[in-house]
Amino acid sequence: MKVLKSAKRLTSVIARFKKKGKRIGFVPTMGFLHEGHLSLVRKARRENDIVAVSIFVNPTQFGPHEDYRRYPRHLARDTRLLKREGVDYLFVPSRSSIYPSHFRDYVRPGPLARYLCGPKRPGHFRGVATVVKRLFDIVAPYAAYFGEKDYQQARIIESMVKRFQLPVRIKTSPIVREQDGLAMSSRNRYLSREERISARFLYQALLLARKLVRQQGVRDVRRVKQAVQNVLAPHVTKIDYVAIVHPQTLKPLKRVNHSALIALACYVGRTRLIDNMVVRV
Ligand code: PAJ
Repeated sequence: MKVLKSAKRLTSVIARFKKKGKRIGFVPTMGFLHEGHLSLVRKARRENDIVAVSIFVNPTQFGPHEDYRRYPRHLARDTRLLKREGVDYLFVPSRSSIYPSHFRDYVRPGPLARYLCGPKRPGHFRGVATVVKRLFDIVAPYAAYFGEKDYQQARIIESMVKRFQLPVRIKTSPIVREQDGLAMSSRNRYLSREERISARFLYQALLLARKLVRQQGVRDVRRVKQAVQNVLAPHVTKIDYVAIVHPQTLKPLKRVNHSALIALACYVGRTRLIDNMVVRV
């Protein structure tokens, strides 16, 4: 595995493979890798000739009071894990190679950013869309891999690819969970032992919602949301939102008639956790 810091160098290396007709699979990450990330890497490995992974803690997707500075980083460990997965290129750009001083090509995230995490994290999806567009321009992958853990992010990237007609296929993978159901996340690192126990209830709440809809035939979104909130409230510090929305448009639903995305965000201590589940009636 080659570790590259220079965007120019990566672009030219990749161009050589493309000329030979090779397929490049790309997995963008912010590092501190876990099995969720590695599931994307393995899929990229299976489906492509060359696999490139990026690790870049993207400052523009963090709010001024968010955890950019203390976001966990462990490049040596990440490098070992990726080597073991047979990754060809690890791209670790500096801040200035992603955002040169004259940079102004910010990408609007589009209407999907109006919902769920959008209003709660102003500027977040603009930062995500911008960095992913920039990374796609550098890597020019055949396919790029995203997790359903960040459901809204994946839909926003898909819509951006359509809007700009980028020649990349977006592939998504299911949420990888810990044994007790907690969705894996680099931010789980922040949880104390007690908080880690409380964090299980995010998944428990989603399971209850699914049961209400599928087994008990509840259709009224207000009732499902109330039940989810009742599970969460005793265990979390703050419920940021519980939402039941259309899986494609992300618009709030009143009734669950076909399929629905149940998404939630909660603070457990100071740590903001998200989780989601698509429920089909
Ligand atoms: P990061 O949080 O490092 O996640 C990188 C990729 O791994 C994302 O596509 C995310 O959805 C996926 N992922 C994380 N946890 C997962 C889990 N438990 N199961 C399945 N997939 C999981 O998402 C970002 O970084 C950034 O916003 C990025 C896209 C790199 C842009 O900066």
